[in-house]
Amino acid sequence: MTKQASATATSPLSSRSAAPDGLAQGLETAFLAVRNETERRAAPLSPEDQQIQSMADASPIKWHRAHTTWFWEQFLLGEHAAGYRPFHPDFAFLFNSYYVSAGPRHARNHRGDITRPSADEVGAYRRYVDAAVVKFFREAGEDELRALAPLVEVGLNHEQQHQELMFTDILHAFAQNPVYPSYDKDWRFPAATRTGDHWLTLNEGIHTVGHVEDSFHFDNEKPAHRALVGPVKIARNLVTNGEWLAFMRDGGYRTATLWLMDGFAAASKEDWQAPGHWREVDGAWQLMTLAGVTPVDPDAPVCHLSYYEADAFARWAGKHLPTEMEWEVAARAGQLNDAFGIVWQWTRSSYSPYPGYRAIEGALGEYNGKFMVNQLVLRGSSLATPDGHSRVTYRNFFYPHHRWQFTGLRLADYV
Ligand SMILES: [Fe+2]
Repeated sequence: MTKQASATATSPLSSRSAAPDGLAQGLETAFLAVRNETERRAAPLSPEDQQIQSMADASPIKWHRAHTTWFWEQFLLGEHAAGYRPFHPDFAFLFNSYYVSAGPRHARNHRGDITRPSADEVGAYRRYVDAAVVKFFREAGEDELRALAPLVEVGLNHEQQHQELMFTDILHAFAQNPVYPSYDKDWRFPAATRTGDHWLTLNEGIHTVGHVEDSFHFDNEKPAHRALVGPVKIARNLVTNGEWLAFMRDGGYRTATLWLMDGFAAASKEDWQAPGHWREVDGAWQLMTLAGVTPVDPDAPVCHLSYYEADAFARWAGKHLPTEMEWEVAARAGQLNDAFGIVWQWTRSSYSPYPGYRAIEGALGEYNGKFMVNQLVLRGSSLATPDGHSRVTYRNFFYPHHRWQFTGLRLADYV
């Protein structure tokens, strides 16, 4: 899945143009940093690792590396770099994800069937496009770069979204392997912050929500608007594995009355008895992580939950999930522990357009708007989110049965 952005988004041009080396150098530096991070994340993976597509929702690492490259070729070089020649005539078909406006594309659920180009050839594709983009930055005029900077920002943020998916997708693939490989044996789950004052109270008030600052954002964060929030209490802390184990011991996964009907159907069909990537060995629960299998730490935030599970847990606990507006107001006040950097947090808000939202014209208008139905909003960011990619107004979204992402929850209450 990719998520969307806006070519009308405000970019931090003022800071870049004020840099000593100017706008072109600023764009080149930012571009190469993001491109290198993609390759850094792929580096520990063999060509075989990069080939696997362990389910339709996940994509091969090789595909992520190629698709993010196609994005630059399609939307920057192809439209704005005079005389640019695509690296290969078939790659637009193979590596377009869902952009109907950009032409026909290979079926998403068959991305793992594509053994050629090889991982090495995708590396050559990346280097070819990197060189072309850098050449473009260096040769374009200041006015053209200023006009295209918002598009470049979309490309950078798009690639960062795929960097997160690279971790979630390879973890899902490794979790299917009976010998449970590690991506990085030294990786550790981030430690949670806990404070004694568990509940944050938000009094009733009208707040501005959505993106208002002069900085990059995706189009789904706009228009900013006023919303009535509270009175509500929001948990400062994330729900932990220990709390989740209590839900499990109490028969949470078997008690239909705790679940939405669709949720219990999904749990029954998939035989969910614990969060995603958990397994029970000799009576002890283990968690598949980027470091391989580890014991479940009762103090760590629970992870790999579907919306259905988060909703059932909240009902079992006699609480609720917060709305995305409640989350945003609390997070903006800096009052939530681990709002960012460990697990995305399910809210009970449907992923819908903000009042007055319209997708932009053209292919990039397909980035976010066409997904605004049947999904739920998650807020914050996760341990897989690249540095500099998260913000308080960021709206992530997944279908309610999805649980291969780094997803957890915090509770709300209205008493
Ligand atoms: Fe994408």
